Amino acid sequence: MKRKFYAVGNWKMYKTVREAVSYLEELLPLIEGCEANLFLAVPFTSIASLALEAKQTPVAIGAQNLHEEKEGPFTGEISALMLKEAGAVFVLIGHSERRTLFGETEERIHRKVIRALQDDLQPILCVGESLQEREEGRTEEALKRQITSALQGVPKEEGAQLILAYEPVWAIGTGKTATAEIVQEVHLFCRSLLVHLWGKKVGGSISILYGGSVTPDNVAHLIAQEDVDGVLVGGASLDCLKFAKIGGKLNSRP
Ligand code: PGA
Repeated sequence: MKRKFYAVGNWKMYKTVREAVSYLEELLPLIEGCEANLFLAVPFTSIASLALEAKQTPVAIGAQNLHEEKEGPFTGEISALMLKEAGAVFVLIGHSERRTLFGETEERIHRKVIRALQDDLQPILCVGESLQEREEGRTEEALKRQITSALQGVPKEEGAQLILAYEPVWAIGTGKTATAEIVQEVHLFCRSLLVHLWGKKVGGSISILYGGSVTPDNVAHLIAQEDVDGVLVGGASLDCLKFAKIGGKLNSRP
């Protein structure tokens, strides 16, 4: 089954609006001819300016988080409609930093997925086991819990919009990448869960990305795996040269 390839940059809490705009200006000439979908998950403050600059280019702009309610008295929060109107087309949901540093529960993550789908923002659901879970042989159990709780009750017509990102917590920002063999094995397992939920056609068409210390040097090995449909890149995406190189490598994927 033909699936779309993605290189998604996650800027986290880096770059002011001015820095963001000059990054994009530098990036665009570097990615001419790139066939992958290039997504940038940027701070809220930069979404509107970048979305305007990125019009008619291969780059799409998105957010790193959203609130699960449509609107309301939630000081400091942001809604799907606000993001959409600012020009975001996708949103990261359930990143491990949100789960561990900001106490996001599986219940909230589930509601955020529903909200994004209802308000027409493409959700990129991030899942991954902790080091302890891996060492105790509970990787599949952790992924099954995270994926099924986030996607329970989502009909397959809506589920078809989703992108899944496997990010082992022990590989994020640590310089430790999971081996290509581990990644392929886990992606296959995730795919089996999606097929179980939504059937072969929809489950088989969802792109599954790998994230965790991806760089221009290790990306080729990762994306050579059959079930790896792209990458979610933190640190290396802050440098437009590195991000362009990673995007370019997706072109030569078998
Ligand atoms: P990293 O981050 O590439 O810096 O490991 C990945 C992520 O947090 O999405």
